[in-house]
Amino acid sequence: MTEPVTPVPGADEAQARADAAREQHLAAADGAILRADNLIAGYLPGVNILNGADLYCHPGELVGIIGPNGAGKSTLLKALFGLVKIHEGTVTLRGEEITNKRADSLVTLGIGFVPQTNNVFPSLTIAENLQMGCYQAPDKYADRFDFVTDIFPALGERRGQRAGSLSGGERQMVAMGRALMMDPSVLLLDEPSAGLSPAMQDEVFLQTRAINKAGVSVVMVEQNAARCLQICDRGYVLDHGRNAYTATGTELANDPKVIELYLGTLAKRD
Ligand SMILES: Nc1ncnc2c1ncn2[C@@H]1O[C@H](COP(=O)(O)OP(=O)(O)O)[C@@H](O)[C@H]1O
Ligand SMILES: [Mg+2]
Repeated sequence: MTEPVTPVPGADEAQARADAAREQHLAAADGAILRADNLIAGYLPGVNILNGADLYCHPGELVGIIGPNGAGKSTLLKALFGLVKIHEGTVTLRGEEITNKRADSLVTLGIGFVPQTNNVFPSLTIAENLQMGCYQAPDKYADRFDFVTDIFPALGERRGQRAGSLSGGERQMVAMGRALMMDPSVLLLDEPSAGLSPAMQDEVFLQTRAINKAGVSVVMVEQNAARCLQICDRGYVLDHGRNAYTATGTELANDPKVIELYLGTLAKRD
């Protein structure tokens, strides 16, 4: 026997607030370089991990995505980059639809992606890793090598060293450098600071800022939520494959609900 469903007090109000927030988000998304609307996506038939995620990134913006483990942050980046099947919703780049396009064609259209793990070829040297980054356009190599080593001087100095012999922080530089070799308009970064020492984490955040200041729009997923909100122009909180909140980094970092639910002791410390 099933119980009758009792309406949750205030549920209509919460729905109205969510609808209003979505409208506002839609209006603000106009002119975005990369945009996702109402994405429903997952790995297995019938099991959706993204349940209506929206996201936009304006040209030159640094957008951060935070949220609990398993919220679907990596899945969202992978869906944007054609690595997870999108069942419903659309992704556009400069207003052109790119939903479910293959990753290699997205690279030529100007999207770079740095996955969280296994993001370098350990048996190849730094220079060879960077070459792999522009195998679709080898003519770009010399110019892009200069750009990348301006941001990451250590990669130039150690170009002959095998990536497998580098520290975690150095490997992350190789991975980011490789993704920059095709001169992307938008760079997607999945937890670039994960597993690094606090000093190296700081370095990665500064480098991400430098990449952004050099004109690359950035969408960054981060487990170091407090630090991510400090450097991003705007942030999203993703929960259960859906956006829970979006606002400027500073607003989110000071929002009591975000502090309580997502920043926890990290935020209380300072
Ligand atoms: N390759 C995969 N196949 C099936 N399910 C997956 C796969 N990768 C992740 N998931 C599931 O998708 C959900 C969201 O994972 P993920 O996007 O990695 O979360 P986050 O990056 O926010 O920690 C989790 O429940 C996870 O178990
Ligand atoms: Mg993840």
